[in-house]
Amino acid sequence: MIHGVAAGWAGDSALRILVVGSGGREHALSWAIAASPLCDKLFCAPGNAGIAEFAECAPIGVGELDRIAAFARDWKIDFVVVGPEAPLVAGLVDKLDAAGIKSFGPRANAAVLEGSKGFTKDLCARHGIPTAAYRRFTDAGKAAAYIKQRGVPIVVKADGLAAGKGVTVAYSADEAAAAAHDALLGGRFGAAGASVVVEDFLDGEEASFFALVDGEHALPLAAAQDHKAVGDGDTGPNTGGMGAYSPAPVMTDAMALEVMERIIQPTVRGMAAEGRKFKGVLFAGLMIGRDGPKLIEYNVRFGDPECQVLMPRLKSDILPALIASADGELKNFDLRWRDEAALSVVLAAKGYPEKPQAGGEIKGIERANALPGVTVFHAGTRRDADGRLVAAGGRVLNVTARGRTVAEAQALAYKAVDLIDFPDGFCRRDIGWRALRRA
Ligand code: AMP
Ligand code: GLY
Repeated sequence: MIHGVAAGWAGDSALRILVVGSGGREHALSWAIAASPLCDKLFCAPGNAGIAEFAECAPIGVGELDRIAAFARDWKIDFVVVGPEAPLVAGLVDKLDAAGIKSFGPRANAAVLEGSKGFTKDLCARHGIPTAAYRRFTDAGKAAAYIKQRGVPIVVKADGLAAGKGVTVAYSADEAAAAAHDALLGGRFGAAGASVVVEDFLDGEEASFFALVDGEHALPLAAAQDHKAVGDGDTGPNTGGMGAYSPAPVMTDAMALEVMERIIQPTVRGMAAEGRKFKGVLFAGLMIGRDGPKLIEYNVRFGDPECQVLMPRLKSDILPALIASADGELKNFDLRWRDEAALSVVLAAKGYPEKPQAGGEIKGIERANALPGVTVFHAGTRRDADGRLVAAGGRVLNVTARGRTVAEAQALAYKAVDLIDFPDGFCRRDIGWRALRRA
Protein backbone atom coordinates (compact mmCIF):
# COMPACT_ATOMS: atom_id res chain seq x y z
CA MET A 1 0.00 0.00 0.00
CA ILE A 2 1.39 3.37 -1.00
CA HIS A 3 0.54 6.44 1.06
CA GLY A 4 0.78 10.18 0.57
CA VAL A 5 0.16 12.69 -2.17
CA ALA A 6 1.89 10.65 -4.84
CA ALA A 7 -0.44 7.75 -4.11
CA GLY A 8 -3.40 10.07 -4.49
CA TRP A 9 -2.23 11.04 -7.93
CA ALA A 10 -1.57 7.46 -8.92
CA GLY A 11 -5.08 6.59 -7.76
CA ASP A 12 -6.66 9.48 -9.60
CA SER A 13 -5.01 8.54 -12.85
CA ALA A 14 -6.29 4.98 -12.81
CA LEU A 15 -9.97 5.18 -12.06
CA ARG A 16 -12.48 2.38 -12.32
CA ILE A 17 -15.69 3.88 -13.69
CA LEU A 18 -19.22 2.47 -13.81
CA VAL A 19 -21.78 3.97 -16.21
CA VAL A 20 -25.42 3.16 -15.38
CA GLY A 21 -27.83 2.85 -18.32
CA SER A 22 -28.28 1.11 -21.64
CA GLY A 23 -29.09 3.65 -24.32
CA GLY A 24 -27.37 5.84 -26.86
CA ARG A 25 -26.80 8.46 -24.17
CA GLU A 26 -24.84 5.93 -22.13
CA HIS A 27 -22.89 4.79 -25.20
CA ALA A 28 -21.90 8.41 -25.88
CA LEU A 29 -20.95 8.97 -22.22
CA SER A 30 -19.00 5.70 -22.10
CA TRP A 31 -17.24 6.58 -25.37
CA ALA A 32 -16.17 9.96 -23.99
CA ILE A 33 -15.14 8.53 -20.61
CA ALA A 34 -13.17 5.67 -22.20
CA ALA A 35 -11.12 8.29 -24.08
CA SER A 36 -10.04 9.87 -20.78
CA PRO A 37 -6.48 9.13 -19.68
CA LEU A 38 -7.90 9.01 -16.13
CA CYS A 39 -10.09 6.01 -16.93
CA ASP A 40 -8.36 2.73 -16.21
CA LYS A 41 -11.30 0.37 -16.52
CA LEU A 42 -14.85 1.01 -17.66
CA PHE A 43 -17.94 -0.94 -16.60
CA CYS A 44 -21.52 -0.45 -17.67
CA ALA A 45 -24.78 -1.70 -16.17
CA PRO A 46 -26.50 -3.03 -18.15
CA GLY A 47 -25.03 -1.46 -21.33
CA ASN A 48 -25.72 -2.60 -24.89
CA ALA A 49 -23.89 -4.34 -27.73
CA GLY A 50 -22.01 -1.18 -28.75
CA ILE A 51 -20.82 -0.40 -25.23
CA ALA A 52 -19.79 -4.06 -24.79
CA GLU A 53 -17.19 -3.58 -27.52
CA PHE A 54 -15.01 -1.51 -25.18
CA ALA A 55 -16.47 -1.82 -21.66
CA GLU A 56 -17.32 -4.64 -19.29
CA CYS A 57 -21.12 -4.92 -19.18
CA ALA A 58 -22.93 -6.28 -16.11
CA PRO A 59 -26.51 -7.55 -16.51
CA ILE A 60 -28.02 -5.31 -13.83
CA GLY A 61 -31.10 -3.20 -14.57
CA VAL A 62 -31.10 0.53 -13.91
CA GLY A 63 -33.88 0.06 -11.34
CA GLU A 64 -31.91 -2.43 -9.25
CA LEU A 65 -30.37 0.15 -6.94
CA ASP A 66 -29.08 -2.28 -4.31
CA ARG A 67 -27.45 -4.50 -6.91
CA ILE A 68 -25.80 -1.49 -8.57
CA ALA A 69 -24.41 -0.33 -5.21
CA ALA A 70 -23.22 -3.87 -4.41
CA PHE A 71 -21.56 -4.17 -7.82
CA ALA A 72 -19.80 -0.82 -7.33
CA ARG A 73 -18.52 -1.98 -3.95
CA ASP A 74 -17.47 -5.47 -5.07
CA TRP A 75 -15.72 -4.26 -8.22
CA LYS A 76 -14.00 -1.39 -6.40
CA ILE A 77 -15.57 1.29 -8.57
CA ASP A 78 -14.11 4.75 -7.92
CA PHE A 79 -16.82 6.75 -9.68
CA VAL A 80 -20.34 5.99 -10.91
CA VAL A 81 -21.94 8.01 -13.71
CA VAL A 82 -25.74 7.67 -13.72
CA GLY A 83 -27.38 8.12 -17.14
CA PRO A 84 -31.19 7.96 -16.77
CA GLU A 85 -33.55 9.84 -14.47
CA ALA A 86 -35.44 6.98 -12.82
CA PRO A 87 -32.58 5.72 -10.62
CA LEU A 88 -31.70 9.33 -9.70
CA VAL A 89 -35.26 10.09 -8.62
CA ALA A 90 -35.35 6.76 -6.76
CA GLY A 91 -32.20 7.67 -4.79
CA LEU A 92 -29.29 5.80 -6.38
CA VAL A 93 -26.84 8.60 -5.61
CA ASP A 94 -28.01 8.65 -1.96
CA LYS A 95 -27.40 4.91 -1.77
CA LEU A 96 -23.94 5.20 -3.32
CA ASP A 97 -23.10 8.10 -0.98
CA ALA A 98 -24.09 5.96 1.99
CA ALA A 99 -21.78 3.23 0.71
CA GLY A 100 -18.92 5.73 0.35
CA ILE A 101 -18.91 5.55 -3.45
CA LYS A 102 -18.59 8.79 -5.38
CA SER A 103 -21.03 9.38 -8.21
CA PHE A 104 -22.22 11.87 -10.80
CA GLY A 105 -25.82 13.01 -10.50
CA PRO A 106 -28.22 14.59 -8.02
CA ARG A 107 -29.48 13.05 -4.82
CA ALA A 108 -33.19 12.23 -4.70
CA ASN A 109 -34.09 15.47 -2.93
CA ALA A 110 -32.63 17.43 -5.87
CA ALA A 111 -33.67 14.99 -8.63
CA VAL A 112 -37.21 16.08 -7.69
CA LEU A 113 -36.62 18.85 -10.26
CA GLU A 114 -37.46 16.17 -12.82
CA GLY A 115 -39.46 13.87 -10.56
CA SER A 116 -42.16 16.46 -9.83
CA LYS A 117 -43.17 19.08 -12.37
CA GLY A 118 -45.25 20.79 -9.68
CA PHE A 119 -42.21 21.08 -7.40
CA THR A 120 -40.27 22.77 -10.19
CA LYS A 121 -43.10 25.18 -10.99
CA ASP A 122 -43.36 26.15 -7.31
CA LEU A 123 -39.58 26.61 -7.15
CA CYS A 124 -39.78 28.92 -10.17
CA ALA A 125 -42.54 30.90 -8.46
CA ARG A 126 -40.51 31.21 -5.23
CA HIS A 127 -37.37 32.37 -7.01
CA GLY A 128 -38.72 34.46 -9.88
CA ILE A 129 -37.61 32.06 -12.62
CA PRO A 130 -39.47 32.70 -15.91
CA THR A 131 -41.91 29.93 -16.75
CA ALA A 132 -45.55 29.63 -17.93
CA ALA A 133 -48.28 30.69 -15.48
CA TYR A 134 -49.75 27.57 -13.85
CA ARG A 135 -51.83 25.93 -11.15
CA ARG A 136 -51.50 22.51 -9.52
CA PHE A 137 -54.50 20.23 -9.08
CA THR A 138 -55.46 16.93 -7.48
CA ASP A 139 -59.18 17.53 -8.12
CA ALA A 140 -60.38 17.01 -11.70
CA GLY A 141 -63.39 19.31 -11.32
CA LYS A 142 -61.27 22.20 -10.08
CA ALA A 143 -58.79 21.58 -12.91
CA ALA A 144 -61.63 21.70 -15.47
CA ALA A 145 -62.93 24.97 -14.02
CA TYR A 146 -59.46 26.54 -14.19
CA ILE A 147 -59.02 25.34 -17.79
CA LYS A 148 -62.32 26.95 -18.76
CA GLN A 149 -61.39 30.20 -17.08
CA ARG A 150 -57.89 30.27 -18.59
CA GLY A 151 -58.79 29.43 -22.21
CA VAL A 152 -56.93 27.46 -24.87
CA PRO A 153 -54.43 26.40 -26.01
CA ILE A 154 -53.43 25.11 -22.59
CA VAL A 155 -51.08 22.41 -21.36
CA VAL A 156 -51.84 19.61 -18.88
CA LYS A 157 -48.98 17.66 -17.30
CA ALA A 158 -48.84 14.65 -15.02
CA ASP A 159 -46.72 15.66 -12.04
CA GLY A 160 -44.37 12.67 -11.92
CA LEU A 161 -42.18 10.64 -14.28
CA ALA A 162 -44.29 9.40 -17.20
CA ALA A 163 -41.62 8.40 -19.73
CA GLY A 164 -42.21 11.53 -21.80
CA LYS A 165 -45.93 10.76 -22.26
CA GLY A 166 -47.40 12.82 -19.43
CA VAL A 167 -47.87 16.10 -21.34
CA THR A 168 -50.98 17.09 -23.32
CA VAL A 169 -50.93 20.29 -25.35
CA ALA A 170 -54.68 20.85 -25.71
CA TYR A 171 -56.45 23.04 -28.24
CA SER A 172 -59.91 22.67 -26.70
CA ALA A 173 -61.09 22.93 -23.10
CA ASP A 174 -62.69 19.48 -23.40
CA GLU A 175 -59.43 17.88 -24.49
CA ALA A 176 -57.57 19.55 -21.62
CA ALA A 177 -60.19 18.59 -19.05
CA ALA A 178 -60.16 15.02 -20.36
CA ALA A 179 -56.37 14.88 -19.98
CA ALA A 180 -56.65 16.08 -16.38
CA HIS A 181 -59.47 13.61 -15.72
CA ASP A 182 -57.52 10.67 -17.23
CA ALA A 183 -54.53 11.43 -15.04
CA LEU A 184 -56.36 12.25 -11.80
CA LEU A 185 -59.26 9.79 -11.93
CA GLY A 186 -58.43 7.38 -14.75
CA GLY A 187 -55.07 6.36 -13.34
CA ARG A 188 -53.51 6.81 -16.78
CA PHE A 189 -50.03 7.51 -15.39
CA GLY A 190 -50.40 5.69 -12.08
CA ALA A 191 -49.01 7.57 -9.09
CA ALA A 192 -47.23 9.98 -11.46
CA GLY A 193 -50.65 11.35 -12.40
CA ALA A 194 -52.11 11.73 -8.91
CA SER A 195 -51.47 15.43 -9.28
CA VAL A 196 -51.31 17.58 -12.41
CA VAL A 197 -49.92 20.92 -13.49
CA VAL A 198 -52.10 23.02 -15.78
CA GLU A 199 -50.11 25.77 -17.46
CA ASP A 200 -50.34 28.40 -20.17
CA PHE A 201 -49.24 27.50 -23.68
CA LEU A 202 -45.91 29.07 -24.61
CA ASP A 203 -45.17 30.23 -28.12
CA GLY A 204 -41.70 30.17 -29.60
CA GLU A 205 -38.86 27.86 -30.52
CA GLU A 206 -37.77 25.07 -28.19
CA ALA A 207 -34.17 24.43 -27.25
CA SER A 208 -32.39 22.22 -24.74
CA PHE A 209 -29.71 23.83 -22.61
CA PHE A 210 -27.23 21.88 -20.51
CA ALA A 211 -25.14 22.95 -17.53
CA LEU A 212 -22.95 21.02 -15.13
CA VAL A 213 -23.67 21.89 -11.50
CA ASP A 214 -21.66 21.14 -8.35
CA GLY A 215 -24.16 22.20 -5.69
CA GLU A 216 -23.17 25.87 -5.89
CA HIS A 217 -21.63 26.64 -9.26
CA ALA A 218 -22.95 26.05 -12.75
CA LEU A 219 -20.79 25.54 -15.82
CA PRO A 220 -22.68 25.99 -19.08
CA LEU A 221 -22.13 23.17 -21.53
CA ALA A 222 -23.95 23.70 -24.81
CA ALA A 223 -27.39 23.80 -26.34
CA ALA A 224 -29.07 21.32 -28.63
CA GLN A 225 -32.38 20.79 -30.34
CA ASP A 226 -34.12 17.50 -30.80
CA HIS A 227 -37.02 16.26 -32.89
CA LYS A 228 -39.67 14.61 -30.77
CA ALA A 229 -42.26 13.63 -33.39
CA VAL A 230 -41.76 10.29 -35.11
CA GLY A 231 -42.36 11.48 -38.68
CA ASP A 232 -40.81 13.89 -41.18
CA GLY A 233 -42.09 17.44 -40.87
CA ASP A 234 -42.65 16.86 -37.12
CA THR A 235 -45.74 14.71 -37.72
CA GLY A 236 -47.08 11.68 -35.85
CA PRO A 237 -46.84 10.69 -32.21
CA ASN A 238 -44.15 11.94 -29.86
CA THR A 239 -41.08 9.83 -29.13
CA GLY A 240 -38.08 10.08 -26.85
CA GLY A 241 -36.37 11.95 -29.70
CA MET A 242 -35.70 10.99 -33.33
CA GLY A 243 -32.55 13.03 -33.75
CA ALA A 244 -30.70 16.06 -32.45
CA TYR A 245 -28.09 18.62 -33.34
CA SER A 246 -25.83 21.05 -31.56
CA PRO A 247 -25.26 23.94 -31.43
CA ALA A 248 -28.83 25.26 -31.63
CA PRO A 249 -28.85 28.42 -33.75
CA VAL A 250 -31.60 29.95 -31.58
CA MET A 251 -29.22 29.81 -28.61
CA THR A 252 -26.97 32.77 -29.34
CA ASP A 253 -24.21 33.68 -26.86
CA ALA A 254 -26.40 36.47 -25.49
CA MET A 255 -29.33 34.08 -25.07
CA ALA A 256 -27.11 31.53 -23.31
CA LEU A 257 -25.99 34.24 -20.89
CA GLU A 258 -29.59 35.21 -20.23
CA VAL A 259 -30.54 31.57 -19.61
CA MET A 260 -27.66 31.22 -17.15
CA GLU A 261 -28.56 34.40 -15.29
CA ARG A 262 -32.34 34.16 -15.24
CA ILE A 263 -32.92 30.41 -15.12
CA ILE A 264 -29.95 28.18 -14.28
CA GLN A 265 -28.23 30.24 -11.59
CA PRO A 266 -31.41 31.14 -9.64
CA THR A 267 -32.30 27.44 -9.71
CA VAL A 268 -28.92 26.37 -8.36
CA ARG A 269 -29.03 29.06 -5.65
CA GLY A 270 -32.67 28.35 -4.81
CA MET A 271 -32.11 24.61 -4.48
CA ALA A 272 -29.06 25.16 -2.26
CA ALA A 273 -30.96 27.67 -0.08
CA GLU A 274 -33.77 25.14 0.35
CA GLY A 275 -31.40 22.38 1.47
CA ARG A 276 -31.54 20.51 -1.84
CA LYS A 277 -28.08 21.14 -3.30
CA PHE A 278 -28.17 20.08 -6.94
CA LYS A 279 -25.18 18.23 -8.38
CA GLY A 280 -24.99 16.70 -11.82
CA VAL A 281 -26.25 17.95 -15.15
CA LEU A 282 -29.18 20.30 -15.33
CA PHE A 283 -31.03 19.95 -18.62
CA ALA A 284 -33.37 22.89 -19.14
CA GLY A 285 -36.11 22.46 -21.72
CA LEU A 286 -36.70 26.03 -22.87
CA MET A 287 -39.15 27.96 -24.98
CA ILE A 288 -37.46 30.93 -26.62
CA GLY A 289 -40.20 33.42 -27.34
CA ARG A 290 -40.63 37.11 -27.94
CA ASP A 291 -40.20 38.01 -24.27
CA GLY A 292 -37.09 35.90 -23.72
CA PRO A 293 -36.41 32.36 -22.55
CA LYS A 294 -38.92 30.50 -20.39
CA LEU A 295 -38.45 27.20 -18.61
CA ILE A 296 -40.70 24.41 -19.88
CA GLU A 297 -39.22 21.73 -17.67
CA TYR A 298 -36.08 20.46 -16.01
CA ASN A 299 -34.44 17.12 -16.50
CA VAL A 300 -31.69 16.05 -14.13
CA ARG A 301 -29.60 14.05 -16.61
CA PHE A 302 -28.23 14.37 -20.11
CA GLY A 303 -30.76 14.30 -22.94
CA ASP A 304 -31.06 11.32 -25.19
CA PRO A 305 -30.23 11.85 -28.10
CA GLU A 306 -28.86 15.32 -27.15
CA CYS A 307 -25.91 13.77 -25.30
CA GLN A 308 -24.91 12.00 -28.51
CA VAL A 309 -24.29 15.38 -30.17
CA LEU A 310 -22.71 17.07 -27.13
CA MET A 311 -20.00 14.46 -26.53
CA PRO A 312 -18.55 14.56 -30.08
CA ARG A 313 -18.31 18.36 -29.84
CA LEU A 314 -16.41 18.29 -26.57
CA LYS A 315 -12.66 18.70 -26.98
CA SER A 316 -11.81 18.51 -23.28
CA ASP A 317 -11.74 15.39 -21.17
CA ILE A 318 -15.27 14.94 -19.76
CA LEU A 319 -14.27 12.82 -16.78
CA PRO A 320 -12.55 15.52 -14.63
CA ALA A 321 -15.60 17.73 -15.19
CA LEU A 322 -17.99 15.02 -13.99
CA ILE A 323 -15.79 14.41 -10.94
CA ALA A 324 -15.56 18.16 -10.25
CA SER A 325 -19.36 18.28 -10.25
CA ALA A 326 -19.47 15.56 -7.60
CA ASP A 327 -16.65 17.19 -5.59
CA GLY A 328 -18.12 20.71 -5.61
CA GLU A 329 -15.15 22.02 -7.59
CA LEU A 330 -16.63 23.40 -10.79
CA LYS A 331 -15.77 27.00 -9.94
CA ASN A 332 -13.09 28.12 -12.41
CA PHE A 333 -13.47 24.89 -14.34
CA ASP A 334 -13.27 25.30 -18.10
CA LEU A 335 -14.24 23.04 -20.97
CA ARG A 336 -13.16 23.39 -24.58
CA TRP A 337 -15.58 22.77 -27.41
CA ARG A 338 -15.03 22.22 -31.10
CA ASP A 339 -16.40 24.91 -33.38
CA GLU A 340 -17.95 22.17 -35.46
CA ALA A 341 -21.61 21.18 -35.32
CA ALA A 342 -22.79 17.65 -34.64
CA LEU A 343 -25.99 15.99 -35.78
CA SER A 344 -27.40 12.60 -34.83
CA VAL A 345 -30.05 10.59 -36.68
CA VAL A 346 -31.95 7.95 -34.72
CA LEU A 347 -32.51 4.65 -36.49
CA ALA A 348 -35.58 3.17 -34.84
CA ALA A 349 -37.22 -0.24 -35.13
CA LYS A 350 -40.31 -0.28 -37.34
CA GLY A 351 -43.41 0.22 -35.21
CA TYR A 352 -41.71 2.66 -32.80
CA PRO A 353 -42.99 4.33 -30.66
CA GLU A 354 -46.15 2.18 -30.21
CA LYS A 355 -44.89 -1.33 -30.88
CA PRO A 356 -41.26 -1.55 -31.99
CA GLN A 357 -40.34 -4.74 -33.72
CA ALA A 358 -37.52 -6.53 -31.88
CA GLY A 359 -34.86 -8.76 -33.35
CA GLY A 360 -34.20 -7.16 -36.74
CA GLU A 361 -30.63 -7.75 -37.92
CA ILE A 362 -28.27 -4.80 -38.39
CA LYS A 363 -25.22 -4.80 -40.65
CA GLY A 364 -22.77 -2.26 -42.01
CA ILE A 365 -22.01 -0.23 -38.88
CA GLU A 366 -18.28 -0.59 -39.55
CA ARG A 367 -18.73 0.96 -43.00
CA ALA A 368 -20.54 3.93 -41.46
CA ASN A 369 -18.00 4.32 -38.66
CA ALA A 370 -15.17 4.32 -41.21
CA LEU A 371 -16.34 7.68 -42.59
CA PRO A 372 -14.19 10.43 -41.04
CA GLY A 373 -16.27 12.42 -38.53
CA VAL A 374 -18.90 9.70 -38.07
CA THR A 375 -19.60 7.80 -34.85
CA VAL A 376 -22.44 5.31 -34.58
CA PHE A 377 -23.74 5.03 -31.03
CA HIS A 378 -25.83 2.02 -30.12
CA ALA A 379 -29.12 2.55 -28.28
CA GLY A 380 -31.22 -0.65 -28.26
CA THR A 381 -28.96 -3.40 -29.59
CA ARG A 382 -27.79 -6.83 -28.49
CA ARG A 383 -25.91 -9.81 -29.90
CA ASP A 384 -28.06 -12.88 -30.47
CA ALA A 385 -26.93 -16.47 -29.79
CA ASP A 386 -25.14 -16.54 -33.16
CA GLY A 387 -23.33 -13.30 -32.49
CA ARG A 388 -25.48 -11.30 -34.93
CA LEU A 389 -26.23 -7.70 -34.03
CA VAL A 390 -30.00 -7.28 -33.60
CA ALA A 391 -32.48 -4.61 -32.51
CA ALA A 392 -33.53 -4.75 -28.86
CA GLY A 393 -35.49 -1.57 -28.29
CA GLY A 394 -37.43 1.24 -29.96
CA ARG A 395 -34.52 3.50 -30.71
CA VAL A 396 -31.75 1.26 -32.02
CA LEU A 397 -28.82 3.31 -33.35
CA ASN A 398 -27.75 6.97 -33.26
CA VAL A 399 -25.77 7.79 -36.37
CA THR A 400 -23.78 10.87 -35.45
CA ALA A 401 -21.63 13.11 -37.63
CA ARG A 402 -19.60 16.27 -37.22
CA GLY A 403 -19.35 18.99 -39.83
CA ARG A 404 -18.39 22.64 -40.18
CA THR A 405 -22.11 23.49 -40.21
CA VAL A 406 -25.30 21.68 -39.26
CA ALA A 407 -25.91 21.24 -43.00
CA GLU A 408 -22.56 19.50 -43.48
CA ALA A 409 -23.09 17.34 -40.41
CA GLN A 410 -26.54 16.42 -41.71
CA ALA A 411 -25.24 15.42 -45.15
CA LEU A 412 -22.53 13.25 -43.61
CA ALA A 413 -24.90 11.66 -41.07
CA TYR A 414 -27.32 10.59 -43.83
CA LYS A 415 -24.43 9.30 -45.94
CA ALA A 416 -23.53 7.11 -42.98
CA VAL A 417 -27.17 6.10 -42.42
CA ASP A 418 -27.31 4.88 -46.01
CA LEU A 419 -24.34 2.58 -45.42
CA ILE A 420 -26.20 0.76 -42.65
CA ASP A 421 -28.28 -2.25 -43.56
CA PHE A 422 -31.25 -2.47 -41.15
CA PRO A 423 -34.32 -3.59 -43.14
CA ASP A 424 -36.55 -3.58 -40.04
CA GLY A 425 -35.60 -0.01 -39.16
CA PHE A 426 -36.49 3.50 -40.23
CA CYS A 427 -35.41 7.07 -39.58
CA ARG A 428 -36.55 10.61 -40.21
CA ARG A 429 -34.88 12.16 -43.26
CA ASP A 430 -35.15 15.78 -42.09
CA ILE A 431 -33.23 15.95 -38.81
CA GLY A 432 -31.87 19.48 -38.46
CA TRP A 433 -34.46 21.19 -40.67
CA ARG A 434 -35.01 24.04 -38.26
CA ALA A 435 -31.30 24.94 -38.23
CA LEU A 436 -31.03 24.57 -42.01
CA ARG A 437 -33.99 26.86 -42.58
CA ARG A 438 -32.20 29.58 -40.61
CA ALA A 439 -28.88 29.16 -42.41
P1 AMP B 1 -42.16 18.23 -21.40
O1 AMP B 1 -42.26 16.76 -21.16
O2 AMP B 1 -42.55 19.09 -20.24
O3 AMP B 1 -40.87 18.63 -22.07
O4 AMP B 1 -43.24 18.53 -22.54
C1 AMP B 1 -43.20 17.83 -23.75
C2 AMP B 1 -43.40 18.79 -24.87
O5 AMP B 1 -44.65 19.45 -24.74
C3 AMP B 1 -42.38 19.92 -24.88
O6 AMP B 1 -41.20 19.56 -25.49
C4 AMP B 1 -43.14 20.98 -25.64
O7 AMP B 1 -43.07 20.74 -27.02
C5 AMP B 1 -44.54 20.78 -25.19
N1 AMP B 1 -44.87 21.69 -24.10
C6 AMP B 1 -44.76 21.47 -22.78
N2 AMP B 1 -45.14 22.53 -22.07
C7 AMP B 1 -45.50 23.47 -22.95
C8 AMP B 1 -46.01 24.80 -22.85
N3 AMP B 1 -46.25 25.38 -21.66
N4 AMP B 1 -46.28 25.48 -23.98
C9 AMP B 1 -46.08 24.91 -25.19
N5 AMP B 1 -45.62 23.67 -25.36
C10 AMP B 1 -45.34 22.94 -24.26
N1 GLY C 1 -34.61 14.01 -25.81
C1 GLY C 1 -35.33 14.46 -24.69
C2 GLY C 1 -34.98 13.84 -23.42
O1 GLY C 1 -33.95 13.21 -23.27
O2 GLY C 1 -35.74 13.98 -22.49
